[in-house]
Amino acid sequence: MVFEETAVRDRPFGEVVPTPRSGAGRPGRSAWQDSKMDPFAPARLGPIELRNRFVKAATFEGMTPDHIVSDRLIEFHQAMAAGGVGLTTVAYCAVSREGCGTPNEIVLGPEAVPGFARLAEAVHAEGAALSVQIGHAGAVAAATGHRGRSPSPIFSPLAMRRTRSVDDSDIDRITGEFGGAAKLLVDAGVDAVEVHLGHGYLLSEFLSPKLNRRQDRWGGPLANRSRFPRQVLDAVRSSTSGRLAVIAKVNMSDGVPGGFWLDESVEFARMLESDGSVDAIELTAGSSLENPMYLFRGEPPIREMSAAFRFPMNIGLRLVGKKFLHTYPFEEAYLLPFARQFRQAVSLPLILLGGINRADTVQSALDEGFDFVALGRSLLREPDLVNKLREGSSRASLCIHCNKCMPTIYRGTHCVLVPEAERPGRRRAS
Ligand SMILES: Cc1cc2nc3c(=O)[nH]c(=O)nc-3n(C[C@H](O)[C@H](O)[C@H](O)COP(=O)(O)O)c2cc1C
Ligand code: SF4
Repeated sequence: MVFEETAVRDRPFGEVVPTPRSGAGRPGRSAWQDSKMDPFAPARLGPIELRNRFVKAATFEGMTPDHIVSDRLIEFHQAMAAGGVGLTTVAYCAVSREGCGTPNEIVLGPEAVPGFARLAEAVHAEGAALSVQIGHAGAVAAATGHRGRSPSPIFSPLAMRRTRSVDDSDIDRITGEFGGAAKLLVDAGVDAVEVHLGHGYLLSEFLSPKLNRRQDRWGGPLANRSRFPRQVLDAVRSSTSGRLAVIAKVNMSDGVPGGFWLDESVEFARMLESDGSVDAIELTAGSSLENPMYLFRGEPPIREMSAAFRFPMNIGLRLVGKKFLHTYPFEEAYLLPFARQFRQAVSLPLILLGGINRADTVQSALDEGFDFVALGRSLLREPDLVNKLREGSSRASLCIHCNKCMPTIYRGTHCVLVPEAERPGRRRAS
């Protein structure tokens, strides 16, 4: 077997292991024949080793009405693991009740530990590793009946009132909640923690020059706006004591005028690299608060979203949905041009995300120096896509980017094109 050194540059936090070349020994190797990197070979992510370079991106599952892991959630991630990914990510879990962005999220307290332990065991049994995304929804928490918190008060259309700004003691408390949540995940035996710093949630609001208008040490220049997010990552890093991989999901661009953008987000990535607090950055964009479709691209599913809500939200969505939910053309790997700016600037491992549907996209992303690829919708559509690619399939994923899975998060997330009997996580009632 021919080995080649695949590390493209020095990697202080996540050395890339040598990988066998060209997929030797695998059926259907032709799809990967010219690749310098083998996506199916084991790869190191900080303190853990993954069986390959495919990550199931967080897609909120909507299967946890009791705020703890359910059997449905276990079944969902078991299916993703059995489908071949190296790492599957439990989507948004709140570090406190106040930090919930939807009503049926896991809240990270001691009562969540046994469920995560069962989930980790089930995923490990399928040969994959388990990551858990943690966050505080900030102003988006207004959607769950909370007042909504933000760096500076803003009007929240979700709650039809102004959010409350966080003060110094809130910042201390929330930092502690992130650290505490990470420690619970260590206790549960999960493999990685993904800190949500994107999509207009609290930490991303702090980074945004548009939303963070504070005059104190937490606002103003990037060095100040990044202080709270960096403090949170330091707390998570020290709570995990090197036992979990720490991933930061970071916005490259909020997708709004005056928001967080490449000029600062690349600099922020450099800061994280010098802090040594994370093992990888997952590169995302957009804002649930201000511009959600920038994150997904394609058509907004306004009719289906309005059907998922009660009066008056349903009527509001029908009336102003088109104005708020813009349409962006969907393109394969639509975040790649922005992500390349990061690949140039840092040597930290990077996870490319956004519209990855094809073997040749994966191959060229890895050849360009990205360390992992994360897939969301294409795995909702085909949980076994990675196995199919490994077996030599060269067709694109069957996902058509209709975004109609988005409103299903309120009743058990699924691809609307997958027959009910085949949906992961549908069978059990808990
Ligand atoms: C139904 C659904 C739910 C999602 N929930 C989350 C979430 O909880 N946390 C998060 O960071 N991103 C979430 N996302 C965004 C995905 O992680 C990913 O960034 C986005 O779908 C783009 O990747 P893709 O083109 O591979 O789907 C969600 C996406 C979908 C479709
Ligand atoms: S509903 Fe299915 S086909 Fe449509 S975007 Fe979601 S996963 Fe893809």
